[in-house]
Formats: sequence, structure tokens, C-alpha cells
Amino acid sequence: MSVTLADAEARDAADPLLNLRGRFDLPEGVIYLDGNSLGPLPKGVAERVAAVVSEEWGGDLIRGWNARDWIGAPQRVGAMIAPLIGAKPHEVIVADSTTVNLFKLVTAAAALAPERSVILTEAGNFRTDLYVAEGAANLLGRRFEARARDEVEGAIGPGTSLLLLTHVHYRTGARFDMAGLTARARDTGALTLWDLSHSAGAVPLDLGRDGVELAVGCGYKYLNGGPGAPAFLYVAEHLQERLMPALRGWMGHEAPFAFDDDYRPAPGLDRFLVGTPPILGIAALEAALDAYRGVAMDAVWAKSVALFDLFRALMAERCPDFTCITPQEPELRGSHISFAHPHAFEICQALIAEGVIGDFRSPDVLRLGLTPLYLGFADIWRAVDILGDIMGEARWRDPAFAVRGKVT
Ligand SMILES: Cc1ncc(COP(=O)(O)O)c(C=O)c1O
Repeated sequence: MSVTLADAEARDAADPLLNLRGRFDLPEGVIYLDGNSLGPLPKGVAERVAAVVSEEWGGDLIRGWNARDWIGAPQRVGAMIAPLIGAKPHEVIVADSTTVNLFKLVTAAAALAPERSVILTEAGNFRTDLYVAEGAANLLGRRFEARARDEVEGAIGPGTSLLLLTHVHYRTGARFDMAGLTARARDTGALTLWDLSHSAGAVPLDLGRDGVELAVGCGYKYLNGGPGAPAFLYVAEHLQERLMPALRGWMGHEAPFAFDDDYRPAPGLDRFLVGTPPILGIAALEAALDAYRGVAMDAVWAKSVALFDLFRALMAERCPDFTCITPQEPELRGSHISFAHPHAFEICQALIAEGVIGDFRSPDVLRLGLTPLYLGFADIWRAVDILGDIMGEARWRDPAFAVRGKVT
């Protein structure tokens, strides 16, 4: 390859983010290219969760809700995510899963404009977004419309109640123009809800500057909160008092411990809390967010761009049978790189067997996450080199690599 391993190592040595790798516990011998799906374990998380279990739960028992401010965890950890996405601290809470948060915001937003009939999204959006939007539309007597990616903008019209889009596409990594589409929808009187699952902690975001009204996102991908970590939910300050949740729980009541029969929404964003917060999961996410301490998202993104360029160039030389389906221009993509190949599943398994962990997305995509906090240029070089050997020797043809587990 025209770039040598020594060249890649030299780039690592000059990398200002090099030391951040020390904030993670990564297994020896693994090149982890799946942090866009499940972030690895940041240092300090295991100890923090153990302390919450043994000292707080074990020692304080139910007193922990006040004594350890468990009750304030959704807002406290939301405020830690806020700077990563360009939001104000009181515009973000941590709660439930991304799917549940989508449902909360789709239903609340659609109810704001009952005279508008359409919930509009992209065909091929992440399936949970499609399923939630369609289910909510059926429930509310609205029309669900899923349009091809390049038709979405033109489909926004006076009947649109809500535009629901995923900022960075889970398969291709293609990125929508957040500011432009939000403004376009707003001009016609529609709200926009952004799924930031593949954006938060990956690309620089400024929801305030871009006029974003509503957003949700995962806690377990680039934010490294652990398997099934609680998600986040964002509502712009100016909308918070106007939205009424359809999914109402006691934790979103103005006074949960008054136990009133009548529902009165909590002020601001707290009305989107539903049930008792999962303290162990939030504790893991809170400790994990420490990995971003003092880190500028612009620097993370600059390195992601450089890792992408190296990956793409090396693949073109060493593995020319793969078609890169991720846009090349930085402003049109997120932080993963995807390649189409008819045997992507088996190839992905063969890679994993050699310690290069990426993932497969049906029907034919090998998807590789470029996470600058703990990946270096030499990792990229080695990963492509290993893939080149697997392809050269057709090692992926081993029947063991065709076996599909429940999770692919
Ligand atoms: C764009 C997008 N939205 C939502 C989700 C998942 O949501 P949940 O955490 O509710 O499973 C994913 C998971 O990969 C995703 O890629």
C-alpha cells in the first residue's frame, strides 16, 4: 500500500488526541470498528457502577433518591450531553430508549398541529423510526408518508405536521442538512424531529444555532454508555411549555409525590420523563461521558475525516472489490464508513475472527465505525491489511462464517 504502516504510526505519534485512548479499557489484540453501534468500556465506569450498587443502593437503600440525588440523574446527565450537541443544559434529559423517546416526541409534536395530516420521513430510515412514526400516525389518525431520500425535501408541504429524519443514516453514513431541512419545514409551519443516534459524539452539532426543535439519540453508541444505555431527548427551550406528552407517567407530573389523580405536566422538559429512572444504567452513562472531558468535537471530527480518507484510500488499493457507499465529502456524512460487497456478512465474520470488529447491515453492507477517541491511523492500516489478506486467501469462504446469530 502506498501509505506504509510506519507512515500511519508517524501520524499517530503526531495526533493531538492520542492520549484519549488511555480513557478506554479495550481488549488486547482487538481493532474496534463498531463504536458507532456499541461504544467500548471507558475507564472508571466499572468502578462507578460497582460503587453505585454496593455503596449507594447497598448502603443508602431508598434514601439514595435524595441523598445521592438519583432523582436528579435524568437532568444531570442530560446536561452533560448538552455541550456535545450544542444544546442548553435544561434542553436535554436522559430517559428510556431512543424508540420510546421517538414515540413521546412524535405524538406530542403531531398533536400540536391537528389540522395537518402528514408525518413525513425517509423510506429506508432506521426501522424503529419508521415503525414508531407509522404506529403514531395510525393512533392519531394522521397519514404516514415515507419518501425516497432525494424526494423528502420536496415533499414538505402545508399538510406536513412533522418531519422525522435521522441525521446520519445508519447504513450508508449519509448526513442530511440539518439546518436547511429544519428551516424548510419551519417555513411551511412543520416541526422537525432529528434522530441523532449516529451523530451525537461523532460529528460537531449545534442544535441551538441550527434552530433544531426536537431530537433524540442513543446513549450506547458514540457516547459509550453500555449495552442498552438510556437514551437522550432534546426539546428546544421555546417549545417546552407548548408540548403535551401523550405518554404520561408519574415522573413527568408536576408533583409526583403529591399523588394527585389529575395529570399536570411538570414544567419544561421534565414532563417527558415517564417512569422511575434506571439509576444503574444512568450511572454507567454518566461515568462514560467523562471520556469526552475537555475534548473539542471539532478536533474529534477533524480526526474522523482523516481516518476516513485513509480508510477509503487504502481500501481502493488493497480491496478494490468493495464499493464505498458512504459519501466522500465530509459535510455529507457521519463517522462511519460502509462498503457494499455481496459477501459482506461472511467477510465481517472472518474479520471479527481476526480481531477486527465491525458489523454487517443487511443486505450487503460492511459497516465500520471510525471513533477518534480510541482509534488511530495504524489501526486503520492494520484493519485494511487484515481484510486484504482475508480477501486474497478467500478465508471468508469458511462455512463457519456463514452462520448467522440472532444479532447480526
Ligand atoms: C438511527 C437509530 N435510531 C434508533 C436506534 C435504536 O433505538 P433503541 O435504543 O430504542 O433500540 C438505532 C440503533 O441502532 C439507530 O441506529
